[in-house]
Amino acid sequence: MRRKIVAGNWKMNGSKDLVDRLVGQVRSELASPGNGVEIVIIPPALFVGDVVRRADGEIAVGVQNVACWDSGAYTGEISAVMARDSGSACALVGHSERRQLFGETDEQVAVKVGKVLASGLDAIICVGETLEEREAGKAEDVVSSQVRKAVSEVSAGQWQQVVIAYEPVWAIGTGKTATAEDAQAMHAAIRAVLAAFGAPSEEISLLYGGSVKADNAAALFAQPDVDGGLIGGASLSAKDFVSICQAMPGKS
Ligand code: PGA
Repeated sequence: MRRKIVAGNWKMNGSKDLVDRLVGQVRSELASPGNGVEIVIIPPALFVGDVVRRADGEIAVGVQNVACWDSGAYTGEISAVMARDSGSACALVGHSERRQLFGETDEQVAVKVGKVLASGLDAIICVGETLEEREAGKAEDVVSSQVRKAVSEVSAGQWQQVVIAYEPVWAIGTGKTATAEDAQAMHAAIRAVLAAFGAPSEEISLLYGGSVKADNAAALFAQPDVDGGLIGGASLSAKDFVSICQAMPGKS
């Protein structure tokens, strides 16, 4: 049985006040959070401790990025080991904004995945094609290559810590969502890449991200290879985030 996960990526948004209000509301509206669905909040790293305290074990917490190193003279960076020490359970790696705005390469993504897994955190590895790549018919090649490179250093005992989020770049923050059929097709392709790699592909959770909202989540989550969602904008509203979590069918 694959893990079912709905994760909210706050990006560079939020405040201590939002932590108090949103985490409290999500906890009170999702009775015994999520009927087997794991709920994760991924705030800016400064607020990780606040979310951990407010979530009180009912909601998992993650970080949006980690450094390629464990510690040392890297001003401004935070390591996977520190994220774990602060109560995080997972880390995003290779989000398209990191790749596009901060020049993160496939090689750095692979190193970060290694650091995250070695620290004991789960890695939510983000992959996705641009609009140009999709229109050129290269979406599957691009995504497959990103997946292969990102998991190149994963060892046999670490696959249960790996989650992959398919986030078409053209769908992030744009209001354009992949159709449920397109999402399913890419998720099936990612699972095939993982299988060819020798990974236990049927056990690895694959999330969809990119303009997931309360009104399109159910159709996406109903797809057989979509095991949850990575939610950006809509995760900043408790009401919308709760509705999206409720759209995820629980474990039967
Ligand atoms: P969005 O962001 O839901 O605002 O499109 C998704 C993401 O970037 O993870």
